Amino acid sequence: MTNTAESPSIKMLRQDQLDTVISKEQIDQRLKEMGAAISETYKDTEKLVIIAILKGSFMFLADLIRYIDVPCQIEFVRLASYGNSKKSSGSIRPVDLTLPNLANEDVLLVEDIIDSGLTLSFFIDYLQSLHKTKSLRLAVLLDKPEARSPKAAPVAIDFSGFNVGNEFLIGYGLDYAGFYRNLPYIAAIPPEHQ
Ligand code: IMP
Ligand code: MG
Repeated sequence: MTNTAESPSIKMLRQDQLDTVISKEQIDQRLKEMGAAISETYKDTEKLVIIAILKGSFMFLADLIRYIDVPCQIEFVRLASYGNSKKSSGSIRPVDLTLPNLANEDVLLVEDIIDSGLTLSFFIDYLQSLHKTKSLRLAVLLDKPEARSPKAAPVAIDFSGFNVGNEFLIGYGLDYAGFYRNLPYIAAIPPEHQ
C-alpha cells in the first residue's frame, strides 16, 4: 500500500510500548490547581463562557470544568491544522466556528496544546474581529514554548498546565493521525518506533 498524506500506514503501538511524559496523577493534580486559579479569577463573574477548541481539547475540557466552581456555558469550535502529520501544516482550516453572540461576555478559551501558535493566533484574531467580549483569557494544558512560529502573533497564556519540550506528544486528547486520543496520560512515541 502506498503511503499518502491522507492514509499513512501507521504502526499502532500498545500502551506498554509508549513513553509516559505526564502521568494521569500529575495531570489531575495540575487540573485541580488550574481549576482553583480559574475559579478565583472569575469569582465575581455571573457567567463564564468557555470555548473549547476541538478535537484535541475534549478530555482536558471535560476534566478541567469539574474543578471550576463558577456558573459556565460550554461552547465548541473545531479547527484543523495537522492532517495526518506530526507537524502543523501552517494553514488553519476552520471546520466549525459556530458560536453564540459573545458581546459583553467573559470568555475563556480552552486548548490542549500551543505549538507553533498559529491556531490560537488565528482564532483569537477571528474572535476579536467579530465579538466585543468583556474579557478574553486562555487556558492551555501544554505549552511548547520553543516551537513558536515567527508567523504567529504572540499569544498570552493566562492558565498553563505544563511546559513541554519540542517533541510530538500523544494521549489525553492529543492524536497522531486520529489515534491515541483515549490514553489517560500524555505520552511520546519512543525514538525506535518513529
Ligand atoms: P499550533 O497551531 O501549531 O500551535 O498547534 C495547535 C494544534 O496542533 C493543537 O491544538 C493540537 O491539536 C495540534 N498539536 C500541536 N502539537 C501537537 C503534539 O505534540 N501532538 C498532537 N497534536 C499536536
Ligand atoms: Mg488542538
